[in-house]
Amino acid sequence: MGKKGIQFILGFVIAFGLGYLIYQGVGQKPVEVADTPITEPAPASTSTQPASTTTAEADVFVQKGCLACHAVSGLGLDGGVTGPDLSQSFLNVEDKHGVPLDEFLKKPTSAVMSGVIGGNPLTDEERQALIEALKKASGH
Ligand code: HEC
Repeated sequence: MGKKGIQFILGFVIAFGLGYLIYQGVGQKPVEVADTPITEPAPASTSTQPASTTTAEADVFVQKGCLACHAVSGLGLDGGVTGPDLSQSFLNVEDKHGVPLDEFLKKPTSAVMSGVIGGNPLTDEERQALIEALKKASGH
C-alpha cells in the first residue's frame, strides 16, 4: 500500500508539473513583442518627412545592424554610441576618412567599419538606400 501511495503521489506531481509547464509555454506566446517597430519617427520638428518614408529609410539601418553602434538623429533614429551619429556622414565622411561615402561603405578606411562591412557586406541596393537615407539625414 505504501508503495502504491507514493506512486500515486508521484504520478500526480508529474502530471500536475507537466500541465503547469505546458500551460506556461502556451501562456507566454502572446507576450512576444517582436513585431513592434524599434524606432518611432522623432516627435515634433526634427523631420518634415512623412512617417512612412522615415520608417522605410530606417529599415536599412535596422536590418544591417548599424543602429547597434550608430544613431542617426537626422532621421530620428536612436542608436548605440560606439560609433558617431551618422547624420552628417553624407557631408563629412570624405573629409574624415579620405574617401567618398560610397567608397567608404564598400571598403571602409576605418578599422572598426572594415570589420563590420567585411563580415556583412552591403549589396548595391543596400548601399544606395543607406546613402539616400544619409543624404536626407544631412538635410540635402
Ligand atoms: C560594431 C559597431 C559598428 C557597427 C555595427 C557599424 N558601425 Fe559604422 N562605425 C563604427 C565606428 C566605431 C566608427 C568610427 C570609425 C573611425 O572613426 O575610425 C564608424 C564609422 C562609420 C561611418 C563614418 C562616420 C564618421 O563620422 O566617421 C559611417 C558612414 C558608418 N560607420 C556607417 C555604418 C553603417 C551604414 C553601418 C551599418 C551597415 C555601420 N556603420 C555599422 C562602428 C560601427
